[in-house]
Amino acid sequence: GSHILSVSQFDREAIAKILQVSAQMAPYASRQKRCNVLEGAILSNLFFEPSTRTRVSFGTAFNLLGGFVRETVGQENSSLSKGESLFDTAQVISGYSDVIAMRHPKMHSVGEFAQGSTVPVINGGDGANEHPTQALLDLFTIQSEMMHFNKGLDDLNIVLMGDLKHGRTVHSLSKLISLYNNVKITMVSPKALQMPDSVISTLSDAGHEVIITDKMAGNLQADVIYQTRIQQERFASKDEADLYRGHFSLNKSVYQQYCKDNTVIMHPLPRDSRPEANELDADLNELDNLAIFRQAQNGVLVRMALFALTLGVEDQLTQYEMPVNW
Ligand code: CP
Repeated sequence: GSHILSVSQFDREAIAKILQVSAQMAPYASRQKRCNVLEGAILSNLFFEPSTRTRVSFGTAFNLLGGFVRETVGQENSSLSKGESLFDTAQVISGYSDVIAMRHPKMHSVGEFAQGSTVPVINGGDGANEHPTQALLDLFTIQSEMMHFNKGLDDLNIVLMGDLKHGRTVHSLSKLISLYNNVKITMVSPKALQMPDSVISTLSDAGHEVIITDKMAGNLQADVIYQTRIQQERFASKDEADLYRGHFSLNKSVYQQYCKDNTVIMHPLPRDSRPEANELDADLNELDNLAIFRQAQNGVLVRMALFALTLGVEDQLTQYEMPVNW
């Protein structure tokens, strides 16, 4: 198996396979069926930054396929705090593991780590750079939500909103979306928090319509509106991050003004629930189109698929099935 470090490593065919295997995982995630295809395998979950969804869903996905999970949480609990390099750490941990999932605050650090690893490394977020497994679960979510409207991943109108400069999930998702046909993407953010040029050009070079704006205007007719959090941990100070809080809140009245009746609302989560942030108001919770928790749930399916594909067992799923009451 090979590492998963960036969405740039995937073409449409590879993505189609990942989405198809993810859908196949549903019965194994819901306990309709048990599957031990990764029995005896060990995942090392190395998280050097806070995480709820990514860390726990990687672990859950691995457990559901019959494997064991070892957790390392926080730089202070590892010997990186004694000056050990990422390369040496990888040499050691890969000797203890069959696969490694890793999050780290520094851009490209997971790639650096992977160079020292003898087993596949999956990037669970490297600073403001990328979050490829999130983008894949976002794409899976878009595909499954659009099915209700007889649409697929082509001809979509997508609005990305918030801290597009630091939000690694929207960087990865934009690159994936650029592979599909005839996409229109509107990027709404304060000027100082615009999407990096390199990400914009991935879309525009592929011939897609990209609109960059710091104002919401008129009904956007979007299929999907994807809100992001102000990534306070990437700013010099909380005060600096506070300057941008509350600029593009999404609540029911904003939704009614700028969206269609059935625009699907996404957010990678966590959403900032403090009143001054109000990026995704709780008054949206009652809407069927609020897909944020379905999105988080899809993380288990997509990560199960990525483990199965990375470790080369995706064709053996049914072979390792057992009765639910085993
Ligand atoms: N979406 C996401 O990466 O969430 P966590 O930071 O909780 O893992």
